[in-house]
Amino acid sequence: MKIALIGCGNVGQGLLQLLHNKQAELQDKYDFQAQVVAASTRTRGALYHLDGLKLDVLLGALAAGSLRHYPDSNGLARDWEALTIAREAQADVLIEASPTDLQTAQPALDICRAAFVSGKHLVLANKGPMALAYHELQETAQRVGKLLRFEATVMGGTPSIRLALQALAGCTIVEARGILNGTTNYILAQMELGTSYADALEQAQKLGYAEADPTADVDGWDAAGKALILAAAVFGKQFALDDLQVQGIRGITRDNIFSAHERNETWKLIARITPEGGSVAPLRLANSDPLASVKGATNAVTYVTDVLGDVTLIGPGAGGLQTGFALLSDLLDIQRLSSN
Ligand code: HSE
Repeated sequence: MKIALIGCGNVGQGLLQLLHNKQAELQDKYDFQAQVVAASTRTRGALYHLDGLKLDVLLGALAAGSLRHYPDSNGLARDWEALTIAREAQADVLIEASPTDLQTAQPALDICRAAFVSGKHLVLANKGPMALAYHELQETAQRVGKLLRFEATVMGGTPSIRLALQALAGCTIVEARGILNGTTNYILAQMELGTSYADALEQAQKLGYAEADPTADVDGWDAAGKALILAAAVFGKQFALDDLQVQGIRGITRDNIFSAHERNETWKLIARITPEGGSVAPLRLANSDPLASVKGATNAVTYVTDVLGDVTLIGPGAGGLQTGFALLSDLLDIQRLSSN
């Protein structure tokens, strides 16, 4: 499988590490062989080689701060625009893992469109295109006969999309609610332990949980973007951010947290989506609620279903390697479906 990777931040590098470290296992277990033919960053250069880039060297160049550290070789092209890679790279799959823009979804949306037009399957970690143009991208995928996968966009490495669309097929899901942002859950849990809001946010940034602009996390927009994706995937509804009521965690003080604690309650940033609409807001949950005990950058979603009642999934919601895993799981899905 030839892969073009757009975006080599925490998530892109997480995928590259998994492809490198699990190369033998992936081949043995799944007959999966990946060649990363293109790697593109916004400010640290881009590389394209039809025979594939050397993953250890690529990771080393990224760790050293620039793809310019990747050595020249015959056939190596440098500094193609991401859009050029999407159009012209000879790749089976394009992965969009560049930073999310929930206002315009650009430049990622045009890159996704170009990937389909040039006959590539598409896998996203970038939430913008799925949150804002879910139905357009699904229709285009169908029209061009290519696969669209986006497990990494919601709950990092934890398979919330696959659970809803595949494992729960046959149930009607009437509501989804949960903790969809790792950064804010980490901050709230650290504040419970006595850390200040500012220090907890700095730690979340250092651990690679936060968005490039962490206001998207703390003001609730990242969770709202994921709620839009779930609304489209689970309920077939294309809501806009303006349709949701969104509130973040900036207003929550340590006093709020401690006084909730005294009443056996915990503050959590909860996203709730139904076919009618949705919201993101900090809520005081009774400690007996399964969502109250979800700590750190862990995420959780409860699907309320007609047949099974509540089905709750808990797992890592952020982090480079964890979210990189979701990209890998999508690549394996594409290999499985396209080789049948
Ligand atoms: N910034 C996001 C979070 C990353 O904290 O959940 C995963 O989408």
